[in-house]
Amino acid sequence: ACSGNDGTSGGGYPEQNITIVVPFSAGGPTDTVTRMIADPMAKALGGKVVVRNAEGAGGTVGAGDVARAQPDGHTVLMHHIGMSTAPALYKNLDYQPLEDFATVGLVTEVPMTVVARQNFEPATFQDLVSHVKANAGTVTLANAGIGAASHLCGLLFQSAAGVKLQEVPYQGTGPALTDLVGGQVDFMCDQTTNTSGQISAGKVKAYAVTTPDRVKSLPDVPTTTEAGMPQLRVSVWHGLYVPAGTPPEIVQKLSGALQAALADQAVIDQMAKLGTAPVTAADATPEAHRTHLDEQLKTWAKIIADAGVQAS
Ligand code: MLT
Repeated sequence: ACSGNDGTSGGGYPEQNITIVVPFSAGGPTDTVTRMIADPMAKALGGKVVVRNAEGAGGTVGAGDVARAQPDGHTVLMHHIGMSTAPALYKNLDYQPLEDFATVGLVTEVPMTVVARQNFEPATFQDLVSHVKANAGTVTLANAGIGAASHLCGLLFQSAAGVKLQEVPYQGTGPALTDLVGGQVDFMCDQTTNTSGQISAGKVKAYAVTTPDRVKSLPDVPTTTEAGMPQLRVSVWHGLYVPAGTPPEIVQKLSGALQAALADQAVIDQMAKLGTAPVTAADATPEAHRTHLDEQLKTWAKIIADAGVQAS
Protein backbone atom coordinates (compact mmCIF):
# COMPACT_ATOMS: atom_id res chain seq x y z
CA ALA A 1 0.00 0.00 0.00
CA CYS A 2 1.22 3.51 -0.69
CA SER A 3 2.04 4.93 2.71
CA GLY A 4 2.70 8.45 1.32
CA ASN A 5 -0.69 10.05 1.69
CA ASP A 6 -2.23 8.28 4.65
CA GLY A 7 -0.51 10.73 6.99
CA THR A 8 1.63 8.04 8.55
CA SER A 9 5.07 8.93 9.86
CA GLY A 10 6.27 9.60 6.30
CA GLY A 11 8.46 6.57 6.90
CA GLY A 12 8.60 5.68 3.21
CA TYR A 13 9.35 9.31 2.26
CA PRO A 14 10.63 10.10 -0.31
CA GLU A 15 8.74 7.62 -2.53
CA GLN A 16 9.47 9.47 -5.78
CA ASN A 17 11.74 12.24 -7.10
CA ILE A 18 11.55 15.43 -5.09
CA THR A 19 11.09 18.51 -7.29
CA ILE A 20 12.37 21.86 -6.09
CA VAL A 21 10.54 24.56 -8.07
CA VAL A 22 12.55 27.70 -8.88
CA PRO A 23 10.16 30.52 -9.83
CA PHE A 24 12.74 32.22 -12.07
CA SER A 25 14.74 31.26 -15.19
CA ALA A 26 17.51 28.71 -15.17
CA GLY A 27 20.95 30.24 -14.74
CA GLY A 28 19.79 33.07 -12.46
CA PRO A 29 20.67 33.59 -8.79
CA THR A 30 17.70 31.70 -7.35
CA ASP A 31 18.40 28.77 -9.68
CA THR A 32 22.12 28.84 -8.79
CA VAL A 33 21.49 28.65 -5.03
CA THR A 34 18.97 25.84 -5.53
CA ARG A 35 21.32 23.73 -7.64
CA MET A 36 24.03 24.15 -5.00
CA ILE A 37 21.94 22.43 -2.31
CA ALA A 38 19.93 19.95 -4.44
CA ASP A 39 22.51 17.14 -4.43
CA PRO A 40 23.54 17.37 -0.76
CA MET A 41 19.82 17.35 0.15
CA ALA A 42 19.20 14.35 -2.10
CA LYS A 43 22.05 12.50 -0.38
CA ALA A 44 20.67 13.26 3.07
CA LEU A 45 17.15 12.15 2.03
CA GLY A 46 18.28 9.03 0.20
CA GLY A 47 16.30 10.10 -2.87
CA LYS A 48 16.63 12.12 -6.08
CA VAL A 49 16.09 15.88 -6.20
CA VAL A 50 15.31 17.58 -9.50
CA VAL A 51 15.08 21.33 -10.10
CA ARG A 52 12.25 22.71 -12.22
CA ASN A 53 12.14 26.35 -13.38
CA ALA A 54 8.62 27.82 -13.41
CA GLU A 55 9.07 31.45 -14.40
CA GLY A 56 6.79 34.42 -14.58
CA ALA A 57 5.36 37.47 -12.84
CA GLY A 58 8.24 38.10 -10.48
CA GLY A 59 8.18 34.57 -9.07
CA THR A 60 4.45 34.45 -8.29
CA VAL A 61 3.66 31.88 -11.02
CA GLY A 62 6.04 29.26 -9.62
CA ALA A 63 5.02 30.02 -6.04
CA GLY A 64 1.33 29.55 -6.98
CA ASP A 65 2.15 26.18 -8.60
CA VAL A 66 3.65 24.89 -5.36
CA ALA A 67 0.86 26.32 -3.19
CA ARG A 68 -1.54 24.05 -5.14
CA ALA A 69 0.74 20.98 -5.29
CA GLN A 70 0.10 17.73 -3.38
CA PRO A 71 1.22 18.29 0.26
CA ASP A 72 3.29 15.07 0.22
CA GLY A 73 6.78 16.53 0.43
CA HIS A 74 7.67 15.77 -3.19
CA THR A 75 7.13 19.36 -4.39
CA VAL A 76 9.24 22.03 -2.70
CA LEU A 77 9.54 25.76 -3.49
CA MET A 78 12.75 27.75 -3.35
CA HIS A 79 11.83 31.41 -3.06
CA HIS A 80 13.31 34.57 -1.67
CA ILE A 81 12.38 38.06 -0.49
CA GLY A 82 9.73 38.06 -3.24
CA MET A 83 7.64 35.80 -1.02
CA SER A 84 7.23 38.73 1.36
CA THR A 85 6.58 41.44 -1.26
CA ALA A 86 4.07 39.78 -3.60
CA PRO A 87 0.98 40.38 -1.41
CA ALA A 88 1.67 44.16 -1.51
CA LEU A 89 2.33 44.20 -5.27
CA TYR A 90 -0.22 41.79 -6.77
CA LYS A 91 -3.95 42.52 -6.37
CA ASN A 92 -5.09 39.03 -7.37
CA LEU A 93 -2.32 36.93 -5.87
CA ASP A 94 -3.54 33.31 -5.90
CA TYR A 95 -1.85 32.35 -2.64
CA GLN A 96 -1.32 33.64 0.88
CA PRO A 97 2.32 33.10 1.99
CA LEU A 98 1.55 32.29 5.63
CA GLU A 99 -1.60 30.23 5.00
CA ASP A 100 -0.77 28.25 1.85
CA PHE A 101 2.79 27.21 2.68
CA ALA A 102 4.71 25.55 5.46
CA THR A 103 8.25 26.86 5.94
CA VAL A 104 11.12 24.37 5.76
CA GLY A 105 13.97 26.78 6.50
CA LEU A 106 16.05 29.75 5.41
CA VAL A 107 19.00 29.02 3.13
CA THR A 108 21.16 32.07 2.53
CA GLU A 109 21.01 35.87 2.46
CA VAL A 110 22.67 37.20 -0.71
CA PRO A 111 24.14 40.69 -1.23
CA MET A 112 23.11 42.68 -4.29
CA THR A 113 25.28 44.59 -6.74
CA VAL A 114 24.44 47.57 -8.92
CA VAL A 115 25.90 46.61 -12.30
CA ALA A 116 25.85 48.13 -15.79
CA ARG A 117 26.81 47.27 -19.32
CA GLN A 118 30.56 47.61 -19.81
CA ASN A 119 30.44 50.76 -21.98
CA PHE A 120 27.80 52.62 -19.91
CA GLU A 121 29.13 56.18 -19.52
CA PRO A 122 28.96 56.74 -15.71
CA ALA A 123 32.29 55.80 -14.11
CA THR A 124 31.24 55.80 -10.44
CA PHE A 125 28.02 55.24 -8.48
CA GLN A 126 27.76 59.00 -7.93
CA ASP A 127 28.12 59.52 -11.72
CA LEU A 128 25.40 56.91 -12.24
CA VAL A 129 22.99 58.83 -10.00
CA SER A 130 23.64 62.13 -11.82
CA HIS A 131 23.41 60.37 -15.19
CA VAL A 132 20.03 58.78 -14.47
CA LYS A 133 18.72 62.10 -13.13
CA ALA A 134 19.73 63.85 -16.36
CA ASN A 135 18.55 61.02 -18.66
CA ALA A 136 15.61 59.45 -16.82
CA GLY A 137 13.62 59.14 -20.05
CA THR A 138 16.15 56.97 -21.87
CA VAL A 139 18.01 54.92 -19.26
CA THR A 140 16.84 51.27 -19.10
CA LEU A 141 16.81 49.27 -15.85
CA ALA A 142 16.47 45.48 -16.09
CA ASN A 143 14.71 43.26 -13.54
CA ALA A 144 13.07 39.86 -13.17
CA GLY A 145 9.49 41.13 -12.99
CA ILE A 146 7.38 42.95 -10.39
CA GLY A 147 8.23 41.68 -6.90
CA ALA A 148 11.56 40.18 -7.89
CA ALA A 149 14.55 41.16 -5.74
CA SER A 150 16.00 42.99 -8.73
CA HIS A 151 12.73 44.93 -9.06
CA LEU A 152 12.67 45.84 -5.35
CA CYS A 153 16.27 46.98 -5.37
CA GLY A 154 15.49 49.03 -8.50
CA LEU A 155 12.50 50.52 -6.65
CA LEU A 156 14.68 51.58 -3.73
CA PHE A 157 17.28 53.03 -6.12
CA GLN A 158 14.68 55.07 -8.04
CA SER A 159 13.01 56.46 -4.93
CA ALA A 160 16.39 57.37 -3.40
CA ALA A 161 17.50 59.05 -6.64
CA GLY A 162 14.06 60.64 -7.16
CA VAL A 163 13.67 59.27 -10.69
CA LYS A 164 11.33 56.96 -12.59
CA LEU A 165 13.25 54.85 -15.11
CA GLN A 166 12.18 52.62 -17.99
CA GLU A 167 12.13 49.12 -16.48
CA VAL A 168 12.77 46.09 -18.71
CA PRO A 169 11.32 42.90 -17.17
CA TYR A 170 12.81 39.43 -17.82
CA GLN A 171 11.80 35.97 -16.63
CA GLY A 172 14.88 35.98 -14.43
CA THR A 173 18.12 37.89 -14.03
CA GLY A 174 19.97 35.11 -15.82
CA PRO A 175 18.67 36.30 -19.20
CA ALA A 176 18.78 39.91 -17.99
CA LEU A 177 22.52 39.61 -17.31
CA THR A 178 23.06 38.12 -20.76
CA ASP A 179 21.47 41.25 -22.27
CA LEU A 180 23.51 43.48 -19.96
CA VAL A 181 26.75 41.83 -21.10
CA GLY A 182 25.50 42.23 -24.67
CA GLY A 183 24.83 45.93 -24.06
CA GLN A 184 21.08 45.66 -24.80
CA VAL A 185 20.08 47.16 -21.44
CA ASP A 186 21.82 49.82 -19.34
CA PHE A 187 21.94 48.65 -15.73
CA MET A 188 20.44 46.41 -13.07
CA CYS A 189 20.45 45.50 -9.41
CA ASP A 190 21.22 41.80 -9.04
CA GLN A 191 22.61 39.29 -6.61
CA THR A 192 26.31 38.46 -6.28
CA THR A 193 25.42 34.80 -6.91
CA ASN A 194 24.69 35.86 -10.49
CA THR A 195 26.90 38.87 -11.16
CA SER A 196 30.21 37.89 -9.49
CA GLY A 197 31.52 35.97 -12.48
CA GLN A 198 30.82 38.71 -15.00
CA ILE A 199 32.18 41.40 -12.65
CA SER A 200 35.45 39.48 -12.13
CA ALA A 201 35.65 38.83 -15.89
CA GLY A 202 35.26 42.58 -16.51
CA LYS A 203 32.16 41.97 -18.67
CA VAL A 204 29.97 44.35 -16.65
CA LYS A 205 30.68 47.46 -14.60
CA ALA A 206 30.07 47.10 -10.84
CA TYR A 207 29.18 50.38 -9.10
CA ALA A 208 28.31 49.24 -5.58
CA VAL A 209 27.17 46.47 -3.27
CA THR A 210 23.97 46.98 -1.24
CA THR A 211 25.31 45.58 2.05
CA PRO A 212 26.61 47.50 5.09
CA ASP A 213 30.14 46.16 4.51
CA ARG A 214 32.02 45.32 1.34
CA VAL A 215 31.65 41.78 -0.01
CA LYS A 216 34.89 39.82 0.63
CA SER A 217 34.87 38.27 -2.84
CA LEU A 218 34.35 41.72 -4.47
CA PRO A 219 36.82 43.81 -2.41
CA ASP A 220 37.08 46.68 -4.91
CA VAL A 221 33.34 47.35 -5.12
CA PRO A 222 32.26 50.09 -2.69
CA THR A 223 29.11 49.84 -0.58
CA THR A 224 26.13 52.08 -1.40
CA THR A 225 26.76 53.78 1.94
CA GLU A 226 30.33 54.69 0.91
CA ALA A 227 28.88 55.82 -2.44
CA GLY A 228 26.38 58.20 -0.83
CA MET A 229 23.11 56.22 -1.03
CA PRO A 230 22.80 54.49 2.39
CA GLN A 231 19.04 53.99 1.75
CA LEU A 232 19.91 51.41 -0.91
CA ARG A 233 20.39 48.60 1.60
CA VAL A 234 18.90 45.21 0.62
CA SER A 235 19.99 41.56 0.85
CA VAL A 236 18.03 38.71 -0.66
CA TRP A 237 17.06 36.06 1.86
CA HIS A 238 16.07 32.68 0.36
CA GLY A 239 13.97 29.93 1.92
CA LEU A 240 12.39 26.56 1.15
CA TYR A 241 8.63 25.91 1.41
CA VAL A 242 6.18 23.05 1.00
CA PRO A 243 2.41 23.28 0.52
CA ALA A 244 0.46 23.81 3.77
CA GLY A 245 -0.78 20.51 5.17
CA THR A 246 2.44 18.60 4.45
CA PRO A 247 2.86 16.10 7.35
CA PRO A 248 5.20 17.60 10.00
CA GLU A 249 7.41 14.47 9.98
CA ILE A 250 8.09 15.09 6.28
CA VAL A 251 8.82 18.78 6.93
CA GLN A 252 11.26 17.64 9.62
CA LYS A 253 13.01 15.27 7.16
CA LEU A 254 13.34 18.08 4.62
CA SER A 255 14.59 20.42 7.35
CA GLY A 256 17.25 17.87 8.36
CA ALA A 257 18.36 17.52 4.73
CA LEU A 258 18.57 21.32 4.37
CA GLN A 259 20.67 21.57 7.56
CA ALA A 260 23.01 18.89 6.15
CA ALA A 261 23.33 20.78 2.85
CA LEU A 262 24.11 24.06 4.65
CA ALA A 263 26.87 22.32 6.62
CA ASP A 264 28.36 20.75 3.46
CA GLN A 265 31.84 22.21 2.90
CA ALA A 266 31.40 22.25 -0.90
CA VAL A 267 28.24 24.35 -0.50
CA ILE A 268 29.98 26.69 1.95
CA ASP A 269 32.93 27.12 -0.45
CA GLN A 270 30.70 27.63 -3.53
CA MET A 271 28.61 30.24 -1.72
CA ALA A 272 31.76 32.07 -0.49
CA LYS A 273 33.06 32.28 -4.07
CA LEU A 274 29.78 33.96 -5.05
CA GLY A 275 29.73 36.46 -2.20
CA THR A 276 27.37 34.74 0.19
CA ALA A 277 27.13 32.09 2.95
CA PRO A 278 24.61 29.63 4.40
CA VAL A 279 22.44 30.95 7.23
CA THR A 280 23.23 29.57 10.70
CA ALA A 281 21.64 26.27 11.77
CA ALA A 282 19.49 28.22 14.26
CA ASP A 283 18.18 30.46 11.49
CA ALA A 284 17.54 27.51 9.19
CA THR A 285 14.77 25.92 11.30
CA PRO A 286 11.15 25.91 10.02
CA GLU A 287 10.08 28.03 13.00
CA ALA A 288 12.81 30.67 12.53
CA HIS A 289 11.94 30.85 8.84
CA ARG A 290 8.22 31.39 9.57
CA THR A 291 9.00 34.15 12.09
CA HIS A 292 11.26 35.84 9.52
CA LEU A 293 8.64 35.59 6.75
CA ASP A 294 5.95 37.05 9.04
CA GLU A 295 8.19 40.01 9.95
CA GLN A 296 9.29 40.56 6.30
CA LEU A 297 5.69 40.62 5.04
CA LYS A 298 5.03 43.54 7.39
CA THR A 299 8.34 45.28 6.64
CA TRP A 300 7.96 45.18 2.84
CA ALA A 301 4.27 46.14 2.89
CA LYS A 302 5.39 49.36 4.61
CA ILE A 303 8.41 49.98 2.33
CA ILE A 304 6.25 49.47 -0.77
CA ALA A 305 3.49 51.72 0.56
CA ASP A 306 6.04 54.40 1.54
CA ALA A 307 7.49 54.22 -1.99
CA GLY A 308 3.99 55.01 -3.24
CA VAL A 309 3.76 51.78 -5.24
CA GLN A 310 0.23 50.39 -5.73
CA ALA A 311 -0.58 46.70 -6.14
CA SER A 312 -1.48 45.94 -9.78
C1 MLT B 1 15.21 38.23 -8.69
O1 MLT B 1 14.43 38.30 -7.77
O2 MLT B 1 15.73 39.17 -9.28
C2 MLT B 1 15.52 36.84 -9.04
O3 MLT B 1 16.31 36.32 -8.01
C3 MLT B 1 16.16 36.71 -10.33
C4 MLT B 1 16.47 35.29 -10.61
O4 MLT B 1 16.67 34.49 -9.67
O5 MLT B 1 16.52 35.01 -11.80
